[in-house]
Amino acid sequence: MFSLIVHGGAGPHRDQEDGAGAQEGCLAAARAGAEVLAKGGSALDAVELAARLLEDDPRFNAGTGAVLNVDGEVELDASVMDGETLRAGAVAVVKTVKNPVSLARLVMERTPHVMLVGEGADAFARSQGIPAIAPGALITPLQRARWLEAQGAKHGTIGAVALDARGQVAAATSTGGTSGKLKGRVGDSPLIGAGTVADSRWGGVSSTGLGEFIIRVGLARTVLEGMRRGLTPDAAAAEGIAELVRIGGDGGAIAVRTSGEVGWAFSSERMAGAWARDGGREGTFFERTGSVR
Ligand code: GLY
Ligand code: GLY
Repeated sequence: MFSLIVHGGAGPHRDQEDGAGAQEGCLAAARAGAEVLAKGGSALDAVELAARLLEDDPRFNAGTGAVLNVDGEVELDASVMDGETLRAGAVAVVKTVKNPVSLARLVMERTPHVMLVGEGADAFARSQGIPAIAPGALITPLQRARWLEAQGAKHGTIGAVALDARGQVAAATSTGGTSGKLKGRVGDSPLIGAGTVADSRWGGVSSTGLGEFIIRVGLARTVLEGMRRGLTPDAAAAEGIAELVRIGGDGGAIAVRTSGEVGWAFSSERMAGAWARDGGREGTFFERTGSVR
């Protein structure tokens, strides 16, 4: 048995056409992750691959296509957590790395730390042989235009959560943050317990929405706690989102429970995502909270 779910962010898709493209990108990432799991690969490898594909897809606010800060630069945040060992890795305010989720994994596996930020994170990437991308390489014409107009998608995130055939869970989240953000601003996505959490005893979670609210309710941890109490992933996600709404935030969360179900909930108008399970079962979602048992 295995399960995987991905999201392409809550809210940034302006219309149905955008939404169809986002669901297509999510399904492609979910399928690629599911292929890893079908071959007996780890949940960690599956979420990293799914997140990399979403980072590379210019339709999402992560990696290529990330939103720009107040100075018109890209500053990326990402994290990953291994629910088997509870090891975690994260990077924030990274400027020269195409796939921050993979850099987060290297922080987890090759340093004694959980998070590296800014110049130090970029320097660590070089030390690991990750080439610096050209300045501006991740900036798409669409995001440049939106920045010039100072409007459009304000935030957006991608995430992946998986349960592998060994019963282990992993989660990953990656984002360009919020458009027009101050230099140095860090959102929820690289913060363990806010943007990402995984514990193979219960499940894993990836969040999306405005980080300033998600951080304060520890959204991912809140959803995980719900599953620990026995809630299904959709019910646990809905409970976490209710906490977010209570303080004036909105957003979404995807979750996988160790028993195999996947679920999602959001308070934003929309959240694009896709799931895949063993037996070739798969689907996408956009406008409704739900679950697959
Ligand atoms: N609107 C979704 C997000 O930030 O993550
Ligand atoms: N959820 C992404 C952010 O606020 O940065």
